[in-house]
Amino acid sequence: MRILVIGSGGREHALCWKIAQSAKCSKIYCAPGNGGIRQIAETVDINADDIASLLEFAKANNIDLTVVGPETPLVKGIVDIFQAAGLKIFGPSENCALIEGSKIFAKVLMKRAGVPTAAFKIFENIEDALLHAATKTLPFVVKADGLCAGKGVVICRTQEDVRLALENMMVAKAFGASGERVIIEDCLVGEEASIIVLSDGKTIVPLASSQDHKRIFDGDMGPNTGGMGAYSPTPVITNDLFKKIIDTIIYPIINTLAQDGTPYKGVLYAGIMVTKDGPYVLEFNARFGDPETQAILPRLKGDLVEAMERSIDGKLANFSLAWDARPCVSVVLASGGYPNGYEKGMEIKGLEEAAAMRDVIIFHAGTRRGRRATDDNKLLITSGGRVLNVTALGDDMQRATDNCYNAVKVIRFEKMHYRRDIGARALGRKR
Ligand code: AMP
Ligand code: GLY
Repeated sequence: MRILVIGSGGREHALCWKIAQSAKCSKIYCAPGNGGIRQIAETVDINADDIASLLEFAKANNIDLTVVGPETPLVKGIVDIFQAAGLKIFGPSENCALIEGSKIFAKVLMKRAGVPTAAFKIFENIEDALLHAATKTLPFVVKADGLCAGKGVVICRTQEDVRLALENMMVAKAFGASGERVIIEDCLVGEEASIIVLSDGKTIVPLASSQDHKRIFDGDMGPNTGGMGAYSPTPVITNDLFKKIIDTIIYPIINTLAQDGTPYKGVLYAGIMVTKDGPYVLEFNARFGDPETQAILPRLKGDLVEAMERSIDGKLANFSLAWDARPCVSVVLASGGYPNGYEKGMEIKGLEEAAAMRDVIIFHAGTRRGRRATDDNKLLITSGGRVLNVTALGDDMQRATDNCYNAVKVIRFEKMHYRRDIGARALGRKR
């Protein structure tokens, strides 16, 4: 099969890497890709949300299967558009992608499906939101309805935080139409985990559990980021809890959407807070997690392409995926300054040495090949906030973590920043 992967991050590098192992795959393209993806796929200079150009490319190049990485094209309806043109594409329809594209849609759906989530109220103007906020015990959470590239959630500890968050979203319109409506919801306390499943509309096949580390600094300090590292599996999700999440969260959502006549196909990602009262949903995503995917796919023994085809064809019943029992840890190397301003164009060194280490895989996120007169166009340079995902398997969590950080040590670029405590929670270390 000729397969097109859409996106340019570490998640898409991991997807291309896994897809390339499938006996079904004869050729991979990636649009737009990055400096590492280029080594295993033919990169195509089309942006991930330029759906018209992607469609034209897929038709002209006889693409047999398209796999969508990021949320924006899904929310814009790329799956419906490709299907209408007779092309096979893995992912949820525009209607189902609203589960990520509109937090209000997701909350109302959860309520209808009886899925545990924080108590909430919806607001369409700032006056009503402020009146409600004044009556509520702090802390609580203000969320913009639409896509905000991970910046639309504010945990408010003072009424001043609330006012600033609401003014930013509803008056200054920092996120455009995404902030026209907001949710105010209760704060949940516990440990977070990611449960990612494949769905064919009726039946789901879960991937292994994982845990992300969203804050920029060790000990979960500093601002939120796109994710600074992940590991799989996460011990907070015991076998019993895993089953409970599938039965009381995932299936009720899949069944409710099927009853609505809009069956959910593709990846469904549940961001879970494990509270003392059991698992609650923080959010749903309509796609693979980043960086969770980089820690999950190295453990997958089965054929991801077959699983995606079965999702599209409604044939996930009696299908399961086999997993490597060894844990996997993935650490993000970021540009100094990220998630705020940072410089690009730093030369990356030590990558080949790191990649040659046992049980180590390097996924690229923000890299590209340099274009300096002297470097023969081969130098690898930084081109984004999150630059590399250094990933390692090991016989146990300690060994996986050691393998990973030993590889991190040999990679260098100016102002490189990474967290030193990815996996620490699983190891039970004191922060
Ligand atoms: P979301 O995009 O909704 O997952 O929110 C991003 C992050 O904000 C989550 O991963 C949590 O760390 C945090 N968060 C979101 N909602 C809540 C909540 N109700 N209580 C506590 N933390 C939350
Ligand atoms: N790792 C969080 C996300 O993919 O949204």
